[in-house]
Amino acid sequence: MEPAKNKLIIALDVDTVARARQLVAQLRDIAGMFKVGSQLFTAAGPDFVREIIGGGNKVFLDLKFHDIPNTVASAAIEATRLGVSIFNVHALGGSEMMERTAHAVAETASKEQLSKPAVIAVTLLTSANEATLGEIRIDAKPEELVTRLARMAARAGLDGVVASAAEASIIRSATTPDFLIVTPGVRPSGAAAADQKRIATPREAVERGADYVVVGRPILESPDPVKAATQIVEEINAVSSGSRKSSEYNL
Ligand code: C5P
Repeated sequence: MEPAKNKLIIALDVDTVARARQLVAQLRDIAGMFKVGSQLFTAAGPDFVREIIGGGNKVFLDLKFHDIPNTVASAAIEATRLGVSIFNVHALGGSEMMERTAHAVAETASKEQLSKPAVIAVTLLTSANEATLGEIRIDAKPEELVTRLARMAARAGLDGVVASAAEASIIRSATTPDFLIVTPGVRPSGAAAADQKRIATPREAVERGADYVVVGRPILESPDPVKAATQIVEEINAVSSGSRKSSEYNL
C-alpha cells in the first residue's frame, strides 16, 4: 500500500460535510492523512468517510471505541471494511477488549482481502492532567498511567498509541521501535493551546518519537489553512522525512 505523504494528520473537526469537503480539496496535496472524529462522523456518517477514501486520501477514524469486548471487536470489523488507515480504541477498556479487537481486524482483513488498518490505543487524553485524574480518584501520575496503558496495548497486539509529545519518548523506550506513536496536542510556536494541556511544537513531537502528528484548530482556524499546514509539514520534514512504518500498514 502506498505510504502516507507525510506525518501530518489534519483533524477535520468541523460540523458540515460541505466544510469538510472544502478542507479536503484544499489540503489533500499537503496532508498525509485526514482525521474524522466524533463530531464529523456523527454529522456526516460512514458515507463521507468512503468519499474521502474514494478520492485517494487516507483516513484516521478517531472514534475512540470504549465498550464491552464484543461490541468494540464488531465495530473494528466495520472500520476495517470502511477502508480506514488507522482507527483507535481506549486502552482503559482493558486487555481483553484490545486483544479481541486486534484479532477481529487481522481476521477480517485476511478473510476479505482488505488492507489491515493500524489499530491504536488512546492512553490518556491530551486534555487530561493530574487534576483531571485526581477528580476521578486515580492517583497515578499521567506518565505512569500512559506507560502502563501503552505496554498493555502492545501486549494485546495493538499497533500503537495516541500519546502527547511529553510521553512519546517514554513510550518509545517502553515498547518496540515499530510501535506507532500518533501525537495530538501539537501547536506551532505562537498558536493558542485552547483546551490542550500537554502541548508541543511539531518539531518537538517528531524529535520525541511521534510517527504522526495530529493538528486541528491551528490549521482549521487559520485565515490561510494551506499556508498553516504547509509550514507544519516543512517543520516536520526538517526533522525527518517519511514514516518508518508506512509500508506495513495501509498508511
Ligand atoms: O484542534 P486540535 O489540534 O487540538 O485537535 C486535536 C485533535 O486530536 C482533536 O480532534 C482531538 O479530538 C484529538 N485527540 C486529542 N487527544 C487524544 C486523542 C485525540 O486531542 N488523546
